Amino acid sequence: MQKLVIDGGVPLEGKIFLHGAKNSALPILAAALLCDGKTVLENCARLTDVFAACHILAHLGCHCMIQEHMVTVEVKNLRSDSIPEALMQEMRSPVIFLGAVLGRTGSCQISYPGGCELGPRPIDMHLDALRQMGARFTIHGGQLDCVVSEGLCGAKIHLPFPLVGATENVMLAAVLAKRRTVLHNAAREPEICDLAYFLRTCGAKIFGDGEGMIVIDGVEKLQGAAYRIMPNRIAGITYLGAAAITGGTICLRGMDAQPIENVLLVLEQTGCWIYPEPDRLHLLAPRRLRAVPMIQTMSHPGFPTDAQAIFMAMLSAADGVSVFEENIFENRYRHVDAFVKMGVKIHVSGKIAVVTRTRALSGTSITATDLRGGAAMALAGLAAQGRTEIHQISHIDRGYETMETVP
Ligand code: EPZ
Repeated sequence: MQKLVIDGGVPLEGKIFLHGAKNSALPILAAALLCDGKTVLENCARLTDVFAACHILAHLGCHCMIQEHMVTVEVKNLRSDSIPEALMQEMRSPVIFLGAVLGRTGSCQISYPGGCELGPRPIDMHLDALRQMGARFTIHGGQLDCVVSEGLCGAKIHLPFPLVGATENVMLAAVLAKRRTVLHNAAREPEICDLAYFLRTCGAKIFGDGEGMIVIDGVEKLQGAAYRIMPNRIAGITYLGAAAITGGTICLRGMDAQPIENVLLVLEQTGCWIYPEPDRLHLLAPRRLRAVPMIQTMSHPGFPTDAQAIFMAMLSAADGVSVFEENIFENRYRHVDAFVKMGVKIHVSGKIAVVTRTRALSGTSITATDLRGGAAMALAGLAAQGRTEIHQISHIDRGYETMETVP
């Protein structure tokens, strides 16, 4: 399916069960490469990025099986340490395989990751961290050759910024490395903790995840295990936003409030009523949302960059002026043009975007620019008067499982 057709103006009402988080499933699939025997991942969403990760594992020599929302990975006989460009491009951020392949085989060849819709996706800090563990890199003709001559060795590493991907790569490189790795200024996202829980389940000695300093004592080997992926908090935020922008009510099932506390506070600022219960969240939206004076995206536990476009859609339908400051990615306002076309006044200057509702959103034909921008456009379509057509929805399919079937 290549487009979404939305007739807006109807409040969203219903219950939604959240499947597993894409940004947790991807590093955990990479981690399965480090394990002997079979790993069984439950609650794994059926997403194109997850399928792409399984293609990479199969290319490397793993036996991968996808049955509904369960993915089984069995490392039998690794036959490759290289990831071809076609598979790299299928996944946008496959660099998280680097630490795992190096940790398992001691060498890795990948095509140097290019940019994506969010701008260049540099990996300089990944490479700096892995160099400190003994990896050596050469780049020629767009190919990155990585070699670890005497096996990865633990190190004291300080990340200049709490980077999610670089934190994951160090964790994956360190669990089978010699001696101890101490990672300072580590990312604290819930998905980092989910990866650590999985690794501990497989026998890794890893501590401090979620607190900014992670300590890992390398072990001889890891044993595959059964594990349930954490719920997709960004998809949950998206569906809460869909009810908020349409003046509806929603019950999110399979999700706790804790991983998105910072976002729920902002939702309450817009006038939404939130009622958390164990393993579920209720939201009741006001007839018209209130603007939010300033939303600054930050690393966890700050406001997540992945929710920026979702909230820009919501606040495009709010009374008053809302201001955004995007501090994580340098090109994450590509969805703005679509909202302007729907009748919103948005002024962008560098990191800052000022959003002012001038009239009701009006349906039109727009094109998804990236994963979260495309999802945000769907929310705007739900609130708009008339019909909205969203093209190139393959972006949305990377992170949302059949969004159109959500009640
Ligand atoms: C992860 O991307 C997520 N992706 C992103 O989700 C999320 O937006 C991001 O973390 C921040 O939370 C996955 O988990 C698969 P970073 P990642 O490394 O690992 C710069 C979504 O919508 N940087 O924390 O790439 C980089 O350019 C996706 O689900 C360097 O400069 O995020 C970016 O501006 C989008 N040098 C910033 O840091 C480096 O070596 C954040 O990158 C690495 C990154």
